[in-house]
Amino acid sequence: MALSKKFEGFRMICALVFLDDLGLAPALQALVHNFTERTGIEANFSSIDYKNMLKAEASTALYRVAQEALNNVERHAAATRVDIIVSTNAGRIQMVVSDNGNGFSQPPGKDKSPRLGGLGLRNMQERMAHFGGLLLVKSDVEGTTLTAMLPRSAMLKSKPAANAA
Ligand SMILES: Nc1ncnc2c1ncn2[C@@H]1O[C@H](COP(=O)(O)OP(=O)(O)OP(=O)(O)O)[C@@H](O)[C@H]1O
Ligand SMILES: [Mg+2]
Repeated sequence: MALSKKFEGFRMICALVFLDDLGLAPALQALVHNFTERTGIEANFSSIDYKNMLKAEASTALYRVAQEALNNVERHAAATRVDIIVSTNAGRIQMVVSDNGNGFSQPPGKDKSPRLGGLGLRNMQERMAHFGGLLLVKSDVEGTTLTAMLPRSAMLKSKPAANAA
């Protein structure tokens, strides 16, 4: 195995340990920081405070979606800026990755949706579908926005308060 592949594998293991230990928000913050260091593309991350709200596998899925989305920004978008925002929306958790690049170069499909040709977008959709979630893609000449949504069932059940009757 080439050294760079081994190093990439090692980095991925470190990232997943970090994610497991500290939760999604710090892991995404680190991902975004490393992305800017590596590519020179400005990247910003913001999030509601939702530590421990998501099931571990759902956190991993969102992290992998963010990683693949940033790969695509680096490879295809010719963007100068990307934002990742995690929030809740009607009880669901939502992660929006938006860039200010050139958008998809291929013409939209018949249904006006962008062509989802490669493996990356398909994997992201499958990761979300696995939890009953969705990946929405919007792309035009002003940039691309991916919205990954997970339903309530991807969240941990909140513990009842210790002194509840
Ligand atoms: N942020 C983006 N800006 C511009 N074009 C994009 C962006 N994300 C995806 N695309 C376009 O969508 C196509 C499909 O992306 P996808 O990630 O599925 O495949 P890929 O990156 O080409 O290959 P891989 O299987 O290695 O991910 C890309 O080839 C590119 O043309
Ligand atoms: Mg890709």
